[in-house]
Amino acid sequence: MASGKSTVYWDYIKIEELLALQSGIADSDAELANDEVMFITVHQIDELWFKLAIRELVHVRDLFAREKVREQSLSSAVRGIRRTALLFEMVTGHFALMETMTTRDYLGFRDKLSPASGFQSAQLREIEILLGLRIEERLPLGHDNDYLRALRYPDGRESPASRRVEARLSDSPSLHEAIGEWLYRTPIQGSTPELPGDEEEVVRFLERYLAAQALELEDARVQAIAAAPGEADRKRLDQRYHQEQANARAFLMADDATPEQRRRWSRIRAALVFIESYRELPLLAWPREVLDAIVELEQAFVIFRQRHARMVERVVGRRTGTGGSAGVDYLDQTALRYRVFRDLWAVRTLLIQRSALPPLERPEAYHFIAADDD
Ligand code: HEM
Repeated sequence: MASGKSTVYWDYIKIEELLALQSGIADSDAELANDEVMFITVHQIDELWFKLAIRELVHVRDLFAREKVREQSLSSAVRGIRRTALLFEMVTGHFALMETMTTRDYLGFRDKLSPASGFQSAQLREIEILLGLRIEERLPLGHDNDYLRALRYPDGRESPASRRVEARLSDSPSLHEAIGEWLYRTPIQGSTPELPGDEEEVVRFLERYLAAQALELEDARVQAIAAAPGEADRKRLDQRYHQEQANARAFLMADDATPEQRRRWSRIRAALVFIESYRELPLLAWPREVLDAIVELEQAFVIFRQRHARMVERVVGRRTGTGGSAGVDYLDQTALRYRVFRDLWAVRTLLIQRSALPPLERPEAYHFIAADDD
């Protein structure tokens, strides 16, 4: 092996190759306005962040897809999820750069890129699929170009983008499914799904939790009604608090599930409440961080969608998108409707004070087991 290894920065990072990639369709930087070079460069940087996000998400998904998720792997998972959230914040930050471009500046080259669109970003679709956004949850575009068709060439041929997304569609489980599986196995009051009587144990925990939650909600209702200025307000508040309590029960008992799914969904939701409520227990501290990191990630994703929509509204108004969608209206709808980890968000509405929690049973089930007896 030759000694005198002399790696240089420009080779290691592939600087020349990288800097040769912003030349647009005409393949000449010199002929492009600064706005267009920025437009291309920002999209490229964002695609690179998406590439990193996909690697992180695959790693995290694989950790949770194991039959036994080791406690030690949870800190690594949290790091990966938080890094992905941060990547989305970076992408979101770039929209301010786009806003340095006036409407006229953008219109100067918009025709060149049409009908291309960020709608054809295969990596964004991969991220959505990896997280667990299902096809039936996607918004209809109101024209023939559904999201898979948009990734093919206009004559219907496969493209690198469609191949990427098709491959990702067959790469299961999603992070949502893997996390669901892991949550399902969470010990609740020391009971696990394979133990006899687990179903009754979970229902008992949920009933006691719901009773405690109802008490807390009742205090809040009485206080709110006492402070309400008029009869109409009192009625409205009364209804609202009763509805909130009914919603909590319906959610935890999984009234929205089919009879086959019901026990499973209810157990997963019970696990979420349990982990959040008793997070001081050594074996629940990291799981609780995982849940928090996932909410942080989904929040960053939603804010990315909202910020993109506001940038688009500022630069081009509400006109039809180059990809043929309703533009800002479509983007706002995705921000509103595309949620994967709904249960993790929903559970926050029904958490209660620590002092009001039902007593913990079998706390010893949640302590680390020493490696030896010394
Ligand atoms: C002036 C700048 C930009 C404008 C006017 C713009 C406009 C739009 C519009 C109107 C859509 C909806 C689909 C369509 O009909 O075309 C869209 C989708 C999209 N754009 Fe942008 N965009 C801009 C910059 C960016 C940047 C910098 C990114 C970086 C990642 C980006 C990523 C996306 C993605 C991923 C979608 C698909 C969203 C989805 O279907 O959920 N866009 N864009």
